[in-house]
Amino acid sequence: MTKISILGSTGSIGQNCLEVISRSKNKWDVVGLSAGRNRELFRKQVTEFNPKIISLEREEDVAEFRREYPESSAEIFHGQEGAEAVARYDESDIVLSAITGINGLRPTLGAVQSGKRVALANKESLVVAGPLILETAERTGSQIIPVDSEHSGVFQCLAKEEKNHVKKVILTASGGPFFHVSAEEMKNKTLDEALNHPRWKMGKKVTIDSATLMNKGLELIEARWLFDLEPEQLDMLIHPQSIVHSLVEMRDGSVLAQLSPTDMKIPIQYALTYPDREEALLPSLDLSQVRALEFYEIDEKKFPLVKLAREALETGGSLPVVLNTANEVAVEAFIEGKIPFSDIAEIVTETVENHKTRKIGGLEEIFDIDRETKLKTRNLIDQR
Ligand SMILES: NC(=O)c1ccc[n+]([C@@H]2O[C@H](COP(=O)([O-])OP(=O)(O)OC[C@H]3O[C@@H](n4cnc5c(N)ncnc54)[C@H](OP(=O)(O)O)[C@@H]3O)[C@@H](O)[C@H]2O)c1
Repeated sequence: MTKISILGSTGSIGQNCLEVISRSKNKWDVVGLSAGRNRELFRKQVTEFNPKIISLEREEDVAEFRREYPESSAEIFHGQEGAEAVARYDESDIVLSAITGINGLRPTLGAVQSGKRVALANKESLVVAGPLILETAERTGSQIIPVDSEHSGVFQCLAKEEKNHVKKVILTASGGPFFHVSAEEMKNKTLDEALNHPRWKMGKKVTIDSATLMNKGLELIEARWLFDLEPEQLDMLIHPQSIVHSLVEMRDGSVLAQLSPTDMKIPIQYALTYPDREEALLPSLDLSQVRALEFYEIDEKKFPLVKLAREALETGGSLPVVLNTANEVAVEAFIEGKIPFSDIAEIVTETVENHKTRKIGGLEEIFDIDRETKLKTRNLIDQR
């Protein structure tokens, strides 16, 4: 049996992962689970999978959890340290990292430092600390397998290729809910409209990032570190059908593509079973039903965060941290109804433009920049 810990088990990726595991329970032993605030679902998961170590975001929820569920014998922790304890748990072989945002960084790095295989969904940790995570993985022998569908696609296309065969990697984007909407109409789109993604059912933060296309910008930076590519080797295209997840152009002119149904259970299962492939959990892809596979260029005027992410990708240093944090704060403010949709891009742009890029020394400096940027971005929001 393979022993697994799941960080962010109550989220969209976490639940999909538990569904994958549930179909072949004899192969998987869930030894660790970590969640945020959804105690009710977490309790159901703990009851079903009986992990040995668990963690919740807040101390008060741990106390409540103990009171509601005294029969649980799991060791229970809280906060970043708690999620990190689950990530580092001695017994686990694989850690699925699926906490949202920079909050996933410490636990992800903990899993990498412990030499685990990491099925990585938390793209933000690579955006803000790519070099640190990759250097650590090299030292500890930790294997990082992408869960993001686009990166899983690239990973599969590159499986048997030499690095110098690759000319270019193209990540596809569905275009989100506002692909067919004018820039003017997009300005005042509501939260419900922004959350109404045409193809994927995901957590709120990543769904809003898909509506601004910041998600694709973050994915470009993620791909740079995962596949050790130069910024100019990375590109993206809108592909509304979300069937082709990525394309890799080889130096001899061949273009490899990875196609699959639009369901995260496929890349999650692949990250867990790699290099094996298990039976699919879904009906086969029927291209005669899909019929057309379309591709469009991204309009960077309409989606300015894509251009900004590209700048951060090229500049590096502290800039991707600032970009990521400013975006997390602005998206949260939009979700809370404090700012209109169009302010997300404006606020992130202003925060990034006001930042003087510097080199990053290490993990604690990343968290310092994160704290500074949170304050500055919140001030900008309050001034509006
Ligand atoms: N969903 C997708 O299809 C998809 C695809 C590719 C990549 N990703 C990436 O995967 C990650 C997770 O996405 P998601 O859609 O699954 O998000 P989600 O549905 O919002 O789930 C996030 C998970 O993280 C937990 N969490 C949030 N803040 C936490 C904190 N401070 N401490 C501990 N746990 C915390 C949440 O707990 P509670 O719910 O209990 O509060 C939940 O379990 C993101 O980085 C996203 O970009 C997602």
